[in-house]
Amino acid sequence: PKCSIRDAQALIHQIPDYPEPGIIFQDVMPVLANGDALQAVVRHLIEPFAGMFDVVAGVEARGFLLAGAVAAHTGVGMLPIRKAGKLPRPAAKVRYTLEYGSAAIEAQADIAAGARVLILDDVLATGGTLSASETLINKLGATVVGHAVLLEIVELGGRKHLTAPLHCVFPEQVSGYTE
Ligand code: PRP
Ligand code: MG
Repeated sequence: PKCSIRDAQALIHQIPDYPEPGIIFQDVMPVLANGDALQAVVRHLIEPFAGMFDVVAGVEARGFLLAGAVAAHTGVGMLPIRKAGKLPRPAAKVRYTLEYGSAAIEAQADIAAGARVLILDDVLATGGTLSASETLINKLGATVVGHAVLLEIVELGGRKHLTAPLHCVFPEQVSGYTE
């Protein structure tokens, strides 16, 4: 391989006090912008789930980027999990709580009932987003075989809110909260 996962991780940019004081933002965009790093990331995201999924689901917005890349690499389809209010046809909906207030995500029933779905996102923080995504896929009658992310903010304990197994590409390198 042209780029090790360690080299790919080194491209993550940490931004102190963004979007608010005390938060260290983990910007993974430079990883995606590097072709060799993106290839490494795509391979590592799916590694524990080889042959186990029929569809990938990507969570708006940054999960879309990973899901599109993984779908193209593996030949499976891609289901976008959208922020509420963006889809043209009736969709399953799940509300979830954020640190302040609440949000909702939606997905259309464009995958087969019983499809095996791997959910992709950039970061697991509190786990609210991926937990809600899991509920959403179940509402469509499909099965979540796992979650794969680039980074897990371990200290927030988000993993405990997930039922399906979580795979994280990069080992945690810094202490810090991310959005
Ligand atoms: C960020 C990140 C994850 C989520 C993780 O997305 O991309 O999707 O937060 O946080 P959680 O585990 O506490 O739910 P955000 O909602 O900021 O939106 P974006 O991807 O559209 O930028
Ligand atoms: Mg997101």
